[in-house]
Amino acid sequence: MTNQKLNIGIILGSTRQGRVSPQVGEWVKGIAGSRETANYQIVDISDYNLPFLGTTDGTEPGISAWNEKLDSLDGFIFIVQEYNHSITGALKNAIDFAREAWHNKAAGIVSYGSTGGARAAEHLRGILGELKVADVRTHPTLSLFTDFENWSEFKPQELHLANINAMLDEVETWSGALKTIRN
Ligand SMILES: Cc1cc2nc3c(=O)[nH]c(=O)nc-3n(C[C@H](O)[C@H](O)[C@H](O)COP(=O)(O)O)c2cc1C
Repeated sequence: MTNQKLNIGIILGSTRQGRVSPQVGEWVKGIAGSRETANYQIVDISDYNLPFLGTTDGTEPGISAWNEKLDSLDGFIFIVQEYNHSITGALKNAIDFAREAWHNKAAGIVSYGSTGGARAAEHLRGILGELKVADVRTHPTLSLFTDFENWSEFKPQELHLANINAMLDEVETWSGALKTIRN
């Protein structure tokens, strides 16, 4: 194994106008930024203009760019918001647009919603299993009632910091381990 830093993508799961996921993603990136073992970057699904899977001939440049971005990453932090007790359609669509690029990598989940986004996060865990992504146990859950003002301005409680760092530790450890079995 080389001493190269791990590359970890913080994937924003929502794409709607007025979404709060960029605030949450930037907060996680800010916490992760002080760590020396990995490089963290925001990966915004909406930058890739992915079509709805199966509705085009699949030659849009965003599809290959999305796969190349995932290929370049060793692990993922999913910023997950609860839509009708599950993940967003946009995130599921983006997940479905890649296969091998997900394999044998690790992931952490940071979720939010009225019950911390827990139901969406649990759905995502099932999907990740099919894609050979090892999702870590520690799962920070943010409440729309106590970590946001007016459901729109992100004001995280201090108590989440320890959980975020514990999750990042787990993702880095597993990302590094899984890197050794990929070519
Ligand atoms: C279509 C839709 C469905 C939603 N369903 C739920 C839900 O089932 N449970 C929940 O806790 N919040 C639900 N919400 C509230 C969202 O979790 C909340 O608006 C959150 O800010 C969405 O994330 P975003 O701002 O990044 O898009 C729903 C929001 C939308 C737009």
